[in-house]
Amino acid sequence: MTNAFELLERDGLARLGRLHTPHGTLETPALLPVVHPDPERQSCRPSEMARRWGVRGVITSSYITWRTPPLRLVAERDGIHRLIDFDGVVMTDSGAFQQHAYGSVEVGADEILDFQNRIGSDIATVLDVFTEPESTYDEAAAALAATDARARAARAARPGLLAVPVQGGAHADLRARSAARASALGDVLAVGGVVPLLEQYRFPELARALVAARPALAPEAAVHLFGTGHPMTFAFAALFGVDLFDSSAYHKFARRGKLLFPDGTVDVDGLRERTCHCALCAEHPLNEVAGWPAAPREAALARHNLLVSMEEVGRVRQAIRDGTLWELAERRAVGHPALRAGLGVAAASTELFWATEPESRRAFRETGPWSGSRPAVTIFQARIAEYRAAHGPALPLPRVPLREEYLRHVPLARPDGRPLEWDAEGPLGPVPVELTELYPVGPYLGVDEFEPPRSSLRAAELRGQLRAAHPELDFERDWSAAWTQRQVVRLLEWAYGPAVADSLAPELSVERSRRTGRLRRLRHRDAIAFVFGNDARPRPTLIGGALLNARLPPGRGRVVVAPDAAPFVREGRSLFAKFVEGADPALAPGASALLVGRDGMLIAVGRLLLAPAEMLRFRRGVAAWVTSHTSSPEPDDEETAAEPVGPEDEPAGPPRRR
Ligand code: GUN
Ligand code: ZN
Repeated sequence: MTNAFELLERDGLARLGRLHTPHGTLETPALLPVVHPDPERQSCRPSEMARRWGVRGVITSSYITWRTPPLRLVAERDGIHRLIDFDGVVMTDSGAFQQHAYGSVEVGADEILDFQNRIGSDIATVLDVFTEPESTYDEAAAALAATDARARAARAARPGLLAVPVQGGAHADLRARSAARASALGDVLAVGGVVPLLEQYRFPELARALVAARPALAPEAAVHLFGTGHPMTFAFAALFGVDLFDSSAYHKFARRGKLLFPDGTVDVDGLRERTCHCALCAEHPLNEVAGWPAAPREAALARHNLLVSMEEVGRVRQAIRDGTLWELAERRAVGHPALRAGLGVAAASTELFWATEPESRRAFRETGPWSGSRPAVTIFQARIAEYRAAHGPALPLPRVPLREEYLRHVPLARPDGRPLEWDAEGPLGPVPVELTELYPVGPYLGVDEFEPPRSSLRAAELRGQLRAAHPELDFERDWSAAWTQRQVVRLLEWAYGPAVADSLAPELSVERSRRTGRLRRLRHRDAIAFVFGNDARPRPTLIGGALLNARLPPGRGRVVVAPDAAPFVREGRSLFAKFVEGADPALAPGASALLVGRDGMLIAVGRLLLAPAEMLRFRRGVAAWVTSHTSSPEPDDEETAAEPVGPEDEPAGPPRRR
C-alpha cells in the first residue's frame, strides 16, 4: 500500500479526496471516462476531454492494447500516455471485463500485470475473475480465491498504484471477504462484477453489494466502482463512499442514439424540442443532430453525454462540501423507481452509515417521505430513545419555538417537586423540548413548514391548552430561568454525558442572543468556555476544553496526539492522521474533541474531519482541524449562534415556525 489517498471533506460515507499518482493528483469523486486505446476508434480525444471538461484521468484497457500488435508496439515503446495522447492520470483495466463479455481472456494474470508496469500505467488493475450476479456460492468463492491469489502476486510485482478488484457476486459474506482481502493489498479497491446490475437498473442488488463490501473496505484507500457510467447513479454510488466512477456509457449510449441526463435517458430520435442548451447542444440543436449521419451524430451525442456526466460529478462534489448528498441522491432517485428502490436498501442498512455520520449539517431539506429514513434521522432517533430511557416518559407539548415567551409558561416540576419532562411534536416525531434545536430537527425544512395552521399557535393559547390538560401544574410561576438551566444541562449532557453536565453547569453562566433568544455562549468566571453553533452544540474553547479534560472519564471525548506533532497542534496547525495515537470511538466527524498528549494534558481543541477508526488508519492528510489553542482570539461578540437556523437560500416564503 502506497498511502496515495487523502480525505479533504466528507458527507457521511461520501468523501472528497485526493489520489496522488505519477501523472498528477485526481480530485475525487472523479469520473474516469473509458477511452479506447486505439485513437482511431476513440471519437473524443482525452486531450479534448481535459481541455473542455476538466477530465484529469481516464481508464483504458491494457488487455485490448496487449492483444492488438500495433497498439502493443507503441505502448511498449512510448508508453500508454503517448498511445492515447493524454498526460493526465491513466488507469488501465486488465481484461476481466472482456472475460465477462466474451467468456474468456487469452492472457495470464502475471503477464498482463507486467505489461501494465511496462507501459507506465498510473493505476494498474489485477486480472480478476469476473463474477456474475447469478454465480453460485461455490463458483463465486472459487473465483474470489483465484482473484486473491493473483492480487497477491500482483502486489509483489507492482511498486506503483494497484487497483484490486472486489468480487463475490451476490453473496454478502463473499463480498465482505473479498473487500477485506483487497484492502490488504490495494491502493484502489475496485468493486467489480456489477456491470450487469448497472445495465439492468438492478440498483437494490447493487446497493446490497456495496452494503456488504463497505465495512470491510479500508477507509484509507480510494474506492472505484466498475461501470458506473450513467450520471443518474453518481450521487447514489458516492453515498457509499465510492470515489471513482468509470464510464463507457457516454459512448455506448451515444451509439444507440441516447442522451444521458442526471435524471434519466432520452432518445434523441423522439426529440422535437430543444431540451438541452449545454455548450455543445447550443451549437448544434439536438433535434437537428438527430438527423445527422451515424458517425458525427454519435460523436456529438457522446460529447453531450460526457459534458453532462462531468457536470453531475461536479454537483456530487459540491453536495459533499455542502452536506447535502443524501438530498441530491434522493432527488436523483425520484428520476427512476429502480434508483429509489436502491436508496431504500441503503436506508434499510442505516447503521452502516452511523460511524461516519456527522454530528450536524447546515441544512436538512426533505424531498419526500423517504427523507425521514436518512441516517441523520435514524441515529438521532436512536439516541432520543436512550435519552428517554434515562429521563423517563414525557408529556406531549405542541410544536413551539424555543423562545422565552413560550417556555416561561411550561412548568418543569410537579407540585411535589418531581421533575417534569416534555416532548415537543417535531417534524420527525416527538423530541425532548430542550433538544429541538439539535440537528436534524433544528434545521429541518419539510412540507409541514409551509402548512399554516400549526404555525400560528400563540403563547397564550399554548398556556390555555396546557392548563386545561394539566390543571394540577403551576402556571403562575415564571419558569424561564429553570428552562435555561434545563436546556444548558441537557445540551451538555447530550454532548458529554450526565455526570459532566451536572458537574459543569453550576460553574457556568449563560448568554442568550438578544435578537433571537437562542443560547449563545457559556462563560466560566469571565472567560468564554463554550460557544453554541447553529446546531445548538456547545463547542468548547480552550478554557471549556480544560474544564472538560478535568471531568470526562479517561478516553472519552479525546484524541491522543503523538509527541512529534504536539508543538504544531499547540500553535493551531491541523492534526495529521499519522500523528494520531488514539481516539474515543464514540466521537463523530464534525465533533469537537480534546486534543491531548500521551500524558493526558490538553494541547488544543479540535474539530474532527475523520471518524476515530479512520484516524488510526490514514497515513496521509488531516484528521482534525484545531479550533482553539493557546493563542486563539476570544470568539467574536456576535457569534454564529445569534443567527437563525436554516438554509440561507430559501425564498421569502411563508414564515418559518422556528
Ligand atoms: N470492468 C467492468 N467490470 C469489471 C470487473 O468486475 N473487473 C474488471 N477488472 N474490470 C471491469
Ligand atoms: Zn447537451
